[in-house]
Amino acid sequence: MTSQAETTEPPIPPMFEPYMMRGLELINRVVVAPMGQYACDDGTPNDWQLVHLGSRAIGGAGLVIAEMCNVAPEGRVTPRCSGFYKDEHIAPWKRVVDFVHEYSDAKIGIQLGHAGRKGATRVMWEGHNQPVEEGGWPLLSASAIAYSNESTVPQALDRELMDMVLGQYRRAAERAIEAGFDMLELHGAHGYLPSSFISPISNQREDEYGGSLDNRMRFLLEVVDAIRSVMPDDMPFGIKISASDLTDGGNEIEDGVEISRALKAHGGVDYICPSGGGIVPWGGQPRPRPKGFAEYAHRIRHEVGIPTMAVGNINTPEEVNAVLENGDADLVALARGHLRDPYWTLHASLELDYDGQPWPNRYFTVPRLAKLKQENPEADGQ
Ligand SMILES: Cc1cc2nc3c(=O)[nH]c(=O)nc-3n(C[C@H](O)[C@H](O)[C@H](O)COP(=O)(O)O)c2cc1C
Repeated sequence: MTSQAETTEPPIPPMFEPYMMRGLELINRVVVAPMGQYACDDGTPNDWQLVHLGSRAIGGAGLVIAEMCNVAPEGRVTPRCSGFYKDEHIAPWKRVVDFVHEYSDAKIGIQLGHAGRKGATRVMWEGHNQPVEEGGWPLLSASAIAYSNESTVPQALDRELMDMVLGQYRRAAERAIEAGFDMLELHGAHGYLPSSFISPISNQREDEYGGSLDNRMRFLLEVVDAIRSVMPDDMPFGIKISASDLTDGGNEIEDGVEISRALKAHGGVDYICPSGGGIVPWGGQPRPRPKGFAEYAHRIRHEVGIPTMAVGNINTPEEVNAVLENGDADLVALARGHLRDPYWTLHASLELDYDGQPWPNRYFTVPRLAKLKQENPEADGQ
């Protein structure tokens, strides 16, 4: 008779626990954070997205969130940003989605965005947030306040423009669903259009969309409703917010908790991914930057009672497991960690000696060899 101790399986490392997000089952808790790739012409994704997102899906993350994909041409951050503003964008995105579904166990979502007053800038490596020299376009925002001294003054949205933009979000969501994405995320952070309404720095409106936090939240909630209205009931929908503007005169984390509370009360959103900053151009903000935003995720998860996705400076398997064990978040997103290593999750499974993470069949010799080595350190690996 075998003893209890002999039959007990080793515990599953927290990152490899599956997660149910509305009707979508993720095989683990690791997320590829959305990252703009600035590789498109007229918003159209191409081989770059196929290889970039495809590699990261093969790399074992439970969820891959494709880059901020803009709902209107004038909602692009740069001329090279991706879009869902034309029906022609559906087929090339579908090619990426189909690859991920066919060749990996990952689910794939996409982040819908509108740059607002931070639009018409250069690609990151040619001057992050600096306006393009030519070929720009008129900008929209909560108030007619430019992002920086160099930026164009945006037009403040009136009711007619709000309805136009809400229609653009709705239509983009429909296109993303048609392309086969498993879930959607709304970019409500970093000073882009919805975020420009929430921050008192960029929102100085005197109507019912400005002033109190409730008023500043109003447009964001309309965007949430526009997107949710076209989504199937069982499809998850998350939102990334700036839980703090990290600068004097902006929202503080206490406001971030209230923003999250309002989102939860409103309904329709399945998780909140708290980030911060991005509302003003100057670096070295007076607020000390947190090492990451896991502490924000912790407060929102516990004070509001809504699932959270932690992001920001979480890099190693130990850090991911610690965030989950500590109850900071339900999911952990890595951005730059996945640029350094597209196979981050597969490598984590080797490092943690966890053999429950599926590997692509074509790569099966790697975990097999690891297991052989574990059983017999003298094995020569053939
Ligand atoms: C190249 C690059 C592009 C990014 N683009 C986006 C984006 O499209 N949407 C978004 O919400 N955040 C974007 N981010 C921010 C990341 O999603 C993430 O919040 C941030 O990098 C912190 O996580 P990390 O420390 O794991 O990199 C981008 C980051 C990088 C490095």
